[in-house]
Amino acid sequence: MHSIQLLNPEQWKIFKEIRLEALRNSPNSFGSTFEVEFFFTQNDWVNKLRNTKNLHLVALSDNFKPIGLIILKPFKEQVGIFAMYVNPTFRGRGIASELIHAVIEYAIKKKFSEIILDVYDQNTSAIELYKRKGFIFTGVKSTLPYPRKHIIKHQMLLKL
Ligand SMILES: CC(C)(COP(=O)(O)OP(=O)(O)OC[C@H]1O[C@@H](n2cnc3c(N)ncnc32)[C@H](O)[C@@H]1OP(=O)(O)O)[C@@H](O)C(=O)NCCC(=O)NCCS
Repeated sequence: MHSIQLLNPEQWKIFKEIRLEALRNSPNSFGSTFEVEFFFTQNDWVNKLRNTKNLHLVALSDNFKPIGLIILKPFKEQVGIFAMYVNPTFRGRGIASELIHAVIEYAIKKKFSEIILDVYDQNTSAIELYKRKGFIFTGVKSTLPYPRKHIIKHQMLLKL
């Protein structure tokens, strides 16, 4: 069993644990890197949870270990999905699916019209996941910053 929880600033250690795990295990799936965020201080982690309009949702196992993460950023009319990650042991059980549904529910409730995200070339599992949820490619492409410019990001969109 697991639960989905919205993190508050006091829970910065949970955020740090799952975020660093994600960056270490899936280095090409995210814009940031383990090497950068490893040096974040307690203040940096707390501020990420406190000083933004972003919402940080985690999946917790039944012994309260973080096993999944998704960050949502409200823009003007769109919600952006960032940092989607599920611990390898817990994959294939619908956890990412639940995290995305939580974002969709939030976006509908707050009357946003679209959800957007970027996914990287060759990330088949994530692409399949997003397609399954109804996201389509917009045709907009970009790259990761130097020195990972060879990794192409594709924008995907879900109309609500
Ligand atoms: C992508 C990721 C988040 C999926 O997490 P998950 O909890 O295993 O996904 P779910 O179990 O909720 O799967 C939901 C749907 O996604 C698709 N999917 C997930 N993993 C898949 C895989 N390895 N191959 C094909 N399709 C896959 C399927 O359509 C699945 O639906 P189904 O089980 O009914 O067929 C996980 O593999 C991960 O953390 N990867 C590394 C980080 C990453 O790439 N993040 C995305 C950045 S854009």
